[in-house]
Amino acid sequence: MAKRNIVKFGEELLRKKSREVTAFDEKLWILLDDMYETMIASNGVGLAGPQVGILRRVAVIDVGEGVIELINPVITYAKGKKRDIEGCLSAPDQWGYVERPQKVKVTAQDRYGKEFKIVGEDLLARALCHEIDHLNGVIFTDLADEMVDREDMKR
Ligand code: CO
Repeated sequence: MAKRNIVKFGEELLRKKSREVTAFDEKLWILLDDMYETMIASNGVGLAGPQVGILRRVAVIDVGEGVIELINPVITYAKGKKRDIEGCLSAPDQWGYVERPQKVKVTAQDRYGKEFKIVGEDLLARALCHEIDHLNGVIFTDLADEMVDREDMKR
Protein backbone atom coordinates (compact mmCIF):
# COMPACT_ATOMS: atom_id res chain seq x y z
CA MET A 1 0.00 0.00 0.00
CA ALA A 2 1.09 3.56 -0.54
CA LYS A 3 -0.16 6.94 0.49
CA ARG A 4 -1.33 9.12 -2.37
CA ASN A 5 -1.41 12.89 -2.70
CA ILE A 6 -4.76 14.49 -1.98
CA VAL A 7 -6.15 16.91 -4.58
CA LYS A 8 -7.12 20.19 -2.93
CA PHE A 9 -10.11 22.52 -3.34
CA GLY A 10 -9.54 24.88 -6.24
CA GLU A 11 -8.16 22.20 -8.53
CA GLU A 12 -10.33 21.67 -11.60
CA LEU A 13 -10.20 17.89 -11.26
CA LEU A 14 -12.54 17.99 -8.25
CA ARG A 15 -15.22 19.57 -10.46
CA LYS A 16 -15.27 16.79 -13.04
CA LYS A 17 -17.78 13.96 -13.14
CA SER A 18 -16.25 10.55 -12.55
CA ARG A 19 -16.78 7.61 -14.88
CA GLU A 20 -18.15 4.20 -13.92
CA VAL A 21 -15.74 1.48 -12.88
CA THR A 22 -15.91 -1.44 -15.31
CA ALA A 23 -12.74 -3.40 -14.44
CA PHE A 24 -12.65 -5.07 -11.02
CA ASP A 25 -9.00 -5.94 -11.24
CA GLU A 26 -5.79 -5.62 -9.28
CA LYS A 27 -5.38 -2.01 -10.34
CA LEU A 28 -8.70 -1.19 -8.63
CA TRP A 29 -7.73 -3.13 -5.50
CA ILE A 30 -4.45 -1.26 -5.21
CA LEU A 31 -6.33 2.03 -5.64
CA LEU A 32 -8.80 1.08 -2.88
CA ASP A 33 -5.99 0.01 -0.52
CA ASP A 34 -4.08 3.22 -1.21
CA MET A 35 -7.18 5.35 -0.71
CA TYR A 36 -7.87 3.71 2.64
CA GLU A 37 -4.28 4.20 3.79
CA THR A 38 -4.35 7.83 2.66
CA MET A 39 -7.65 8.46 4.44
CA ILE A 40 -6.53 6.89 7.73
CA ALA A 41 -3.18 8.70 7.65
CA SER A 42 -5.13 11.98 7.33
CA ASN A 43 -7.68 11.11 10.06
CA GLY A 44 -10.55 11.25 7.57
CA VAL A 45 -13.81 9.31 7.50
CA GLY A 46 -14.16 9.23 3.72
CA LEU A 47 -12.24 9.67 0.49
CA ALA A 48 -13.39 9.61 -3.13
CA GLY A 49 -11.51 8.77 -6.34
CA PRO A 50 -11.20 12.35 -7.64
CA GLN A 51 -9.47 13.32 -4.39
CA VAL A 52 -6.51 11.13 -5.36
CA GLY A 53 -6.70 12.22 -8.99
CA ILE A 54 -8.69 9.25 -10.26
CA LEU A 55 -11.94 10.19 -12.04
CA ARG A 56 -13.64 6.87 -11.35
CA ARG A 57 -16.73 6.16 -9.27
CA VAL A 58 -14.97 4.75 -6.19
CA ALA A 59 -14.97 5.83 -2.57
CA VAL A 60 -13.90 4.52 0.81
CA ILE A 61 -15.60 5.34 4.11
CA ASP A 62 -14.83 4.47 7.72
CA VAL A 63 -16.89 6.17 10.39
CA GLY A 64 -15.43 3.92 13.08
CA GLU A 65 -17.23 0.71 12.14
CA GLY A 66 -14.70 -0.65 9.65
CA VAL A 67 -13.96 0.17 6.05
CA ILE A 68 -16.72 0.39 3.47
CA GLU A 69 -15.61 0.24 -0.16
CA LEU A 70 -18.08 1.69 -2.62
CA ILE A 71 -17.82 1.13 -6.36
CA ASN A 72 -20.38 2.82 -8.62
CA PRO A 73 -22.55 3.84 -5.63
CA VAL A 74 -26.08 5.14 -6.15
CA ILE A 75 -28.40 6.64 -3.53
CA THR A 76 -31.73 4.84 -3.88
CA TYR A 77 -33.56 6.35 -0.91
CA ALA A 78 -33.23 9.37 1.31
CA LYS A 79 -35.28 10.40 4.32
CA GLY A 80 -35.25 13.20 6.86
CA LYS A 81 -32.94 16.14 7.28
CA LYS A 82 -30.00 16.73 9.56
CA ARG A 83 -27.78 19.81 9.70
CA ASP A 84 -24.31 19.23 11.08
CA ILE A 85 -20.70 20.25 10.70
CA GLU A 86 -18.74 18.81 7.83
CA GLY A 87 -15.20 18.90 6.50
CA CYS A 88 -13.17 17.41 3.67
CA LEU A 89 -9.63 16.06 3.32
CA SER A 90 -9.29 18.24 0.21
CA ALA A 91 -9.62 21.32 2.44
CA PRO A 92 -8.21 20.45 5.88
CA ASP A 93 -8.84 23.92 7.30
CA GLN A 94 -12.41 24.42 6.14
CA TRP A 95 -15.51 23.43 8.06
CA GLY A 96 -19.14 24.19 7.42
CA TYR A 97 -22.70 23.30 8.27
CA VAL A 98 -24.47 21.20 5.66
CA GLU A 99 -27.99 19.84 5.69
CA ARG A 100 -28.04 16.19 4.63
CA PRO A 101 -30.64 13.41 4.73
CA GLN A 102 -30.79 11.74 8.16
CA LYS A 103 -30.97 8.35 6.48
CA VAL A 104 -29.99 7.05 3.06
CA LYS A 105 -29.91 3.72 1.29
CA VAL A 106 -27.15 3.13 -1.22
CA THR A 107 -26.61 0.39 -3.77
CA ALA A 108 -23.01 -0.19 -4.83
CA GLN A 109 -20.59 -2.87 -5.94
CA ASP A 110 -17.76 -4.31 -3.88
CA ARG A 111 -14.17 -4.68 -5.13
CA TYR A 112 -15.09 -7.90 -6.93
CA GLY A 113 -18.08 -6.39 -8.72
CA LYS A 114 -20.71 -7.93 -6.45
CA GLU A 115 -23.69 -5.67 -5.77
CA PHE A 116 -24.61 -4.84 -2.17
CA LYS A 117 -26.89 -2.44 -0.33
CA ILE A 118 -26.07 -0.33 2.68
CA VAL A 119 -28.22 1.77 4.98
CA GLY A 120 -26.62 4.76 6.66
CA GLU A 121 -27.93 7.09 9.33
CA ASP A 122 -26.51 10.33 10.73
CA LEU A 123 -22.70 10.41 10.26
CA LEU A 124 -22.68 7.46 7.86
CA ALA A 125 -25.52 8.99 5.81
CA ARG A 126 -23.55 12.24 5.71
CA ALA A 127 -20.36 10.48 4.61
CA LEU A 128 -22.19 8.53 1.90
CA CYS A 129 -23.75 11.72 0.50
CA HIS A 130 -20.47 13.66 0.74
CA GLU A 131 -18.42 11.02 -1.10
CA ILE A 132 -21.03 10.40 -3.79
CA ASP A 133 -21.16 14.17 -4.34
CA HIS A 134 -17.41 14.08 -5.06
CA LEU A 135 -18.07 11.60 -7.89
CA ASN A 136 -20.33 14.22 -9.46
CA GLY A 137 -17.93 17.13 -9.03
CA VAL A 138 -19.80 18.57 -6.05
CA ILE A 139 -17.93 19.67 -2.89
CA PHE A 140 -19.43 20.41 0.51
CA THR A 141 -18.79 24.14 0.33
CA ASP A 142 -21.35 24.23 -2.52
CA LEU A 143 -23.99 23.10 -0.03
CA ALA A 144 -22.84 24.64 3.25
CA ASP A 145 -25.15 27.31 4.65
CA GLU A 146 -22.52 28.53 7.10
CA MET A 147 -18.74 28.16 7.15
CA VAL A 148 -16.83 28.19 10.45
CA ASP A 149 -13.15 28.70 11.15
CA ARG A 150 -10.96 26.39 13.18
CA GLU A 151 -11.19 28.60 16.26
CA ASP A 152 -14.92 27.95 16.29
CA MET A 153 -14.23 24.22 16.09
CA LYS A 154 -12.16 24.29 19.28
CA ARG A 155 -15.01 25.68 21.40
CO1 CO B 1 -14.61 15.44 0.67
